[in-house]
Amino acid sequence: MIPLETQRLILRDFVESDWQAVHQYASDPKVVRYLTFGPNSEEDTKNFLQKEILLQGEEPRQHFALAVTLKAQKQLIGICRISTLDTDNKIGSIGYCFSKEFWGQGYATEAVKAVVSFGFQELGLHRIFATCHPENIASARVMQKIGMQQEGYLREHHWIKGEWRDSWLYAILEHE
Ligand SMILES: CC(C)(COP(=O)(O)OP(=O)(O)OC[C@H]1O[C@@H](n2cnc3c(N)ncnc32)[C@H](O)[C@@H]1OP(=O)(O)O)[C@@H](O)C(=O)NCCC(=O)NCCS
Repeated sequence: MIPLETQRLILRDFVESDWQAVHQYASDPKVVRYLTFGPNSEEDTKNFLQKEILLQGEEPRQHFALAVTLKAQKQLIGICRISTLDTDNKIGSIGYCFSKEFWGQGYATEAVKAVVSFGFQELGLHRIFATCHPENIASARVMQKIGMQQEGYLREHHWIKGEWRDSWLYAILEHE
C-alpha cells in the first residue's frame, strides 16, 4: 500500500533520520501559523517522529502520516496525513503541511489527491474530512481543487495556542 506514487512525488513512511527535514518546516512560524503544533523545538520534532514511527506498526493500521518527497531529488518537502477516525461509519480525516520554499507549485494538491484516493480505495473509507483556519486560504483552495465541499463553519471548536479557533469544515464522499 505504502509508498504512494504520483507524477512528481513519493509519499512514504517516516524514518528517524528525517527529523532535520521535518524540523525545517515544523520550526518555521510562518508554516505553523494556523496549525495545532509548533513552532517546534528539536525535541518536539524528534518526539513527533518517534510517535509516528511507533504508529506505523499498529494492526490494523489507522494512521498514515506520510513523508512527501520529490521523486527526482528524493528531498522531503512536507507531510500528508490520513487517519481512520470511525471504523463503523468509515470516516477519515486528512492533514498536510509543506516547507515554505515549495508552496505554490501544486505539490499539496498532488499529495492530497493521492492520500484521498488511498483512503477510499485501500482503507475503505466513505467520508473524508478536513478543517482549516478561516484565514488559511491556501489550504481551503487545496481542498476545493481536489473536489472537497465546504460543509460548514465550526465555531470555537479548537483550543490552539492559547485561544479558541474557528474552522471551515470540508469533506468529500467516496462516490464523489
Ligand atoms: C496549505 C499548503 C499545504 C498549500 O500547499 P501548496 O503546495 O502551496 O498548495 P498548491 O500549490 O497545491 O495549491 C495552493 C492554492 O492556493 C492558492 N493560494 C495560496 N495562497 C493564496 C492566497 N493568499 N490567496 C488566494 N489563493 C492562494 C494558490 O494559488 C493555489 O491555487 P491555484 O492552483 O488555483 O492557483 C501550504 O501553504 C502549507 O503548507 N501551509 C502551512 C501548513 C498548513 O496551513 N496546512 C494546512 C492546515 S489545514
